[in-house]
Amino acid sequence: MKFFLDTANLDELKKGARWGMVDGVTTNPSLIAKEGRPIEEQVRLICDIVDGDISAEVVSTEISAMVQEGKGLARIHKNVVVKCPLTRDGIEATAALSKEGIRVNVTLCFSPGQALLAAKAGAYIVSPFVGRVDDIGWVGMDLVRSIIQIYKNYGFKTQVLAASMRSPTHVLESALAGAHIATMPFKVLDMLFNHPLTDKGLEQFLKDWAKVFQETPAGR
Ligand code: G3P
Repeated sequence: MKFFLDTANLDELKKGARWGMVDGVTTNPSLIAKEGRPIEEQVRLICDIVDGDISAEVVSTEISAMVQEGKGLARIHKNVVVKCPLTRDGIEATAALSKEGIRVNVTLCFSPGQALLAAKAGAYIVSPFVGRVDDIGWVGMDLVRSIIQIYKNYGFKTQVLAASMRSPTHVLESALAGAHIATMPFKVLDMLFNHPLTDKGLEQFLKDWAKVFQETPAGR
């Protein structure tokens, strides 16, 4: 399973990359706007940190403008995956860009039927938003499970990227469901490390060591 960070923040990306846990990055217009730089510049900086798929989203809403904008984003770097929203124009743009060999991540997917449209349009990735479905009182993970089952039934190559991850549990459930990728905020990646028994066990090991030896090996 690939781990992507759902952020455009360079410090978060550098830290995650140091841990060796960042296989790719997803951004969206809100995340890019938060960092304050033009998208071309921000995406280029992200590509310098992470060598993997970097999703950059179009903000046009009409087919020809979307295609033109998508081509521009794809030119920023070979690792850029163009993100198009799951609208009629977005799906048409997905098909047009895919036919030209540009990889598209279809975003804002909230139903298995929408995911079928993305796959049929030739999307490289589809992004079901788990947390936002939970937010309206439905079970977001059911969406991921259904899409994976449907894609398996027909052999669609589109990768399922579980997005809008709000907790380590979301990541684990996505892994159990067989999602190809989970994209998560830095906070969720950080939380995946945590276990009270790890902290307790380490504390005890260090106490036992210190009773007998004065220094750590690094201090020798
Ligand atoms: O980037 C797409 C998605 O992961 C957004 O997540 O937390 O804003 O619902 P969120």
